[in-house]
Amino acid sequence: GNRTFTMIKPDAVGENNIGAITKMIEEGGFRIVSMKMTKLSEERAGQFYAVHKERPFFKDLVEYMSGGHIVAMILEKDNAVEDFRKLIGATNPADAEEGTIRKMFAKSIEANAIHGSDSDENAQIEGSFFFADIEKF
Ligand code: GTP
Ligand code: MG
Repeated sequence: GNRTFTMIKPDAVGENNIGAITKMIEEGGFRIVSMKMTKLSEERAGQFYAVHKERPFFKDLVEYMSGGHIVAMILEKDNAVEDFRKLIGATNPADAEEGTIRKMFAKSIEANAIHGSDSDENAQIEGSFFFADIEKF
């Protein structure tokens, strides 16, 4: 697949890191296809992370993800999903490698600055959660 989906999460938006993170994404070779700043309601945040609804951290995750603005993007690059997961680094910033977005900007395992789709199928589903077909050039 050549597309993935990302969100700059509320902690990173609140710290004025939209520009720095977007710069790393572009310098990593990704083309921004679609981009939108918005805010998730608790209901929409729960839908987005529905796969985690039985996890003990689900309620906290929904509160965190709906607690501030996010920046949603569809990105294009060869091998987009896998290469983007490399660029963002491990879920827990304590485990993230030097030079990754989470190593630089994440605050905790929850407030970890950025999302990246984990499969081509989910990239498609998540992109369509935020963008209409006519916004996906
Ligand atoms: P995403 O790209 O956001 O999907 O992160 P991920 O694929 O690296 O991790 P995963 O899908 O397993 O978890 C989704 C999100 O839930 C994480 O990015 C964190 O924001 C949060 N999360 C994951 N594990 C924990 C945890 O153990 N505790 C808390 N509080 N939050 C967690
Ligand atoms: Mg995930």
